[in-house]
Amino acid sequence: MRIVALMNQKGGVGKTTTTVNLGACLSQLDKRVLLIDMDPQANLSVHVDADAGGADKSVYHILTNRISFEETIQRTSVVNLDVIPSHIDLSGAEIELVQAMGRETILREAIREFEEKNPDRYDIILIDCPPSLGLLSINAMAVATEVLVPLQMEFFALRGMSKLMEVIRLVEKRLNPAIKVSGIIPCMWDSRKRLCRDVLEEVCNYFKDKVFNTRIRANVKIAEAPSHGKVIVEYDEECNGAEDYRSLAREFLIRGGEVLPEPEPPVLEPEPPAPEPEVPAPGKGSVGLREEAEPADEAPVPHPHPAPPDTIRPHPTGHESEGIRPWAT
Ligand SMILES: Nc1ncnc2c1ncn2[C@@H]1O[C@H](COP(=O)(O)OP(=O)(O)O)[C@@H](O)[C@H]1O
Ligand SMILES: [Mg+2]
Repeated sequence: MRIVALMNQKGGVGKTTTTVNLGACLSQLDKRVLLIDMDPQANLSVHVDADAGGADKSVYHILTNRISFEETIQRTSVVNLDVIPSHIDLSGAEIELVQAMGRETILREAIREFEEKNPDRYDIILIDCPPSLGLLSINAMAVATEVLVPLQMEFFALRGMSKLMEVIRLVEKRLNPAIKVSGIIPCMWDSRKRLCRDVLEEVCNYFKDKVFNTRIRANVKIAEAPSHGKVIVEYDEECNGAEDYRSLAREFLIRGGEVLPEPEPPVLEPEPPAPEPEVPAPGKGSVGLREEAEPADEAPVPHPHPAPPDTIRPHPTGHESEGIRPWAT
């Protein structure tokens, strides 16, 4: 079983988004996936519509030894994708656990015990870490077989990386010799921006082949999906975001040594029969033909089940409009 901690002590870089959507795309590739929300902000739990508020079955209850790992698992709307939600009390767990023996390895013990009883239940566990390198992240690193680092291609991107690498090295030495950094994932990629390209070049120079070839492009659908409680492949399976996360899931498995068949080419609509040559009616000319022309590529594709506006939960950053992109300069 691969146990992956998605880490970056910087907030807003795409950790939660990547955990959820990578998980969903892996489950579409027939992997049984469990997501663990280690962030007290519970964004992942909200994203997959898990019951987090006031729940007494969460990561917090595992860490405080009140409940078994198994009892906290919830299903999501995606087949083969389960979740353990977070809880607001998780924010106090670091202080609460100060006196606890072996507090860095509570999650590891819980997962090992679960694995012994249910050896084949999951292929992959993805742990969404909070934006800090405290006890919660240490618990994730102590059990992880690997770390994935979502990275936004901006000026401060590399600043925190040396600290993160230092902490991972310490964990490797003291707690978990098996841990390794298996990849850096460029997130919110915009190839039109010179800064994005320059930072990616710098990141590639430093981390070499650890950088995933897949880049998760900035895509407004990705930012909209959580407010509908949906993963990107449910919200709009055709959009760039869905395409990128499907590609990331494939690359993740291939880098892990799996051999995957080529993805199936998209099913093309059969060509309509060529229209009979027709003598245009007097006065109409070719207008009729123009009217039936294909819509332009850029035409927005309406979502099949748009939620009525009052059911849309406000997006945390408040960018509801398609046209506004917080990352655009
Ligand atoms: N590729 C993307 N394109 C557009 N918006 C994105 C993308 N990835 C993430 N976001 C948005 O950016 C914000 C921060 O992402 P999030 O995954 O919550 O970061 P983190 O977990 O690192 O704090 C969220 O509002 C999310 O919807
Ligand atoms: Mg997050």
